[in-house]
Amino acid sequence: MATNYFSFAKILILFSFIYPILISNAYSSKPYELVNQACHKNANVKFCMDVLKSDINSKFAKNFTTLAKIAVNVAIRYSTRTRDHFQGVKTGPPGVLKSLKECIPAYNTVIMEFKVCFNEDECGLVRYDILVAGDEAERCQRIADFNGAQDSFITPTNNVTLEFVRLGSSLVDLTCSEM
Ligand SMILES: *[C@@H]1O[C@H](CO)[C@@H](O)[C@H](O)[C@H]1NC(C)=O
Ligand SMILES: *[C@@H]1O[C@H](CO)[C@@H](O)[C@H](O)[C@H]1NC(C)=O
Repeated sequence: MATNYFSFAKILILFSFIYPILISNAYSSKPYELVNQACHKNANVKFCMDVLKSDINSKFAKNFTTLAKIAVNVAIRYSTRTRDHFQGVKTGPPGVLKSLKECIPAYNTVIMEFKVCFNEDECGLVRYDILVAGDEAERCQRIADFNGAQDSFITPTNNVTLEFVRLGSSLVDLTCSEM
């Protein structure tokens, strides 16, 4: 009996320590707190929200690095689908087909830069890799403009890639501030 009472007291004491910790955690991490904080500094708030909320890991993210990695991962999936779509186009106006021949290798570089950026050990270089991805999307756009393909699907596609570049680099800027 005495031992039973003793262990009950121990549990009570333990609980009295744990309980305030549980309470304080529940209040200090509201869902999407960091997402809201990051996206309201962003030029395109809706795009930022949509991209980050597409990954459940953003919900209780503890730092901006987690959010930047989510955005870059979504950008990798988008640019890979774009490259695959470009490769699948076999018929269309000559200006479009001519542009795609050069935009496919450009997008191979876009994908590669997004994939390697977080291997850099300096956050300025992470940002640099993302901006190089943007240069390649802009190069694809200049080629499309030159070939008279500016009114084709190539333009909105590049615009979305450039949105990812702006989002990624702005999140990496926040990451740099926490390193
Ligand atoms: C950010 O949070 C993740 C997961 O909670 C953690 O693994 C990582 O080390 C943190 N990074 C920084 C830079 O604090
Ligand atoms: C693409 O972006 C450019 C520059 O921001 C803009 O002028 C153009 O209207 C956009 N086009 C499409 C189809 O989204």
